[in-house]
Amino acid sequence: MDYLQIEGGKQLSGSVTISGAKNAALPIIAATLLSDKPITLTNLPNVVDIRTLLKLLTMLGGSVEHNQTTAQIDNSTITSTKAVYEIVSQMRASILVLGPLLARFGECEVSLPGGCAIGQRPIDLHLKALESMGAVIEIKGGYVHAMAPKGLKGAKIIFDKITVGGTENILMAAALAHGTTTIINAAKEPEIVQLCEMLQSAGVTISGVGTSELTIEGTDQTPLSFEDIAIIPDRIEAGTYLCAAAITHSSIDLERVNPAHIRATIDKLEFMGCTFEIEAERMTIHAPKRLKPVNLTTTEYPGFPTDMQAQLMAVSVMTHGESMIEERLFENRFMHVSELNRLGADIWLKGNIAAVKGVEALYGADVMATDLRASSALVLAALVAKGTTNVHRIYHLDRGYDNLEGKLLALGASIQRKQEAH
Ligand code: UD1
Repeated sequence: MDYLQIEGGKQLSGSVTISGAKNAALPIIAATLLSDKPITLTNLPNVVDIRTLLKLLTMLGGSVEHNQTTAQIDNSTITSTKAVYEIVSQMRASILVLGPLLARFGECEVSLPGGCAIGQRPIDLHLKALESMGAVIEIKGGYVHAMAPKGLKGAKIIFDKITVGGTENILMAAALAHGTTTIINAAKEPEIVQLCEMLQSAGVTISGVGTSELTIEGTDQTPLSFEDIAIIPDRIEAGTYLCAAAITHSSIDLERVNPAHIRATIDKLEFMGCTFEIEAERMTIHAPKRLKPVNLTTTEYPGFPTDMQAQLMAVSVMTHGESMIEERLFENRFMHVSELNRLGADIWLKGNIAAVKGVEALYGADVMATDLRASSALVLAALVAKGTTNVHRIYHLDRGYDNLEGKLLALGASIQRKQEAH
């Protein structure tokens, strides 16, 4: 197993190029199942989660040629519609194959993803919506068995909660359904917008793209022909590098970024005293010596993303004053708190609210990564902690950050990947 060894206290400078968005690429890869023609995806992030989903496609019989940031996928040869536990248990987002497999083949089996470190994460809303589209669903032996032998029917879906994955699954299912589907209370994340654009490029009529009400005209099980697609920049990776600059009081440039997608993070960092120069696809952040504390509540896009909560908390640890951070999306997304406290942070947790008292300094220690974004928060804290911090269990980081240590090293951080002795 690998760990990261970081010597804190280095200022960062220079520029970092943002990779493609993992959370945009995953539904797009799943959506390729709606087609029986080859498609090329570019600007994929080179991360484990992408390789996991591509492996699932090959296990279903698809043909995949993957080369770091590009994948050629041909799903004309699918022979199985079973997404096995071995893959789904590695990555919950594998549930995204449920909608497209069911819509194209009329039946599928997908392992139940189960809970994960950040919370229970049920898929009840995905299943209920598919049932309203005529699917017959049974849970047996840890698998979701879904059947719609005559195809799915368009329906009016009202999500009780805004769900990113649920909206994506239903969008994909609706694209091949018979008739019109309306999704009310849909998620509006940029990743959803790109999925809609991909479906539109294949001739699917969708209205309301980027709003909370989507209307999709299905093709009645006619497979789609997609145009090749370049994945949008990763807004969470971009936000993480902005936080790296903020916590180290540095100025850095971000290249290949979409500033409009990270408005909520920019706003918080501006409030804390950072300044920005923003162009169409690049931006510069200048961070002051003294950061101000901040209050934030995570919410759905375009609000402050839960996937940036841990990183912003790491930055707030080094401010002069008290910050309040409220997590509204996931019940257990504060596991970085005790690890940040091991580095000398002063964070008090009550329910879904963290009160952060700024400290003068953090001190290097051994800490353990618990989930993807929590891991990046520990790396950020380590960049300013005095002495050496070892961040263990970084396989979480490898799931979602493309070459994190290489990019931080190029910005001037002292960071090394090492192997655990045992
Ligand atoms: C996606 C992102 C994840 C991000 C999250 C929220 C991907 C691959 N992952 O996850 O990084 O943190 O959005 O922005 O894009 N819920 C239910 N029932 C359901 C579905 C969801 O109760 O059937 C709840 C969840 O437990 C959670 C909330 O709804 O409390 C939002 O979850 P959701 O938007 O579905 O998250 P994911 O799509 O899993």
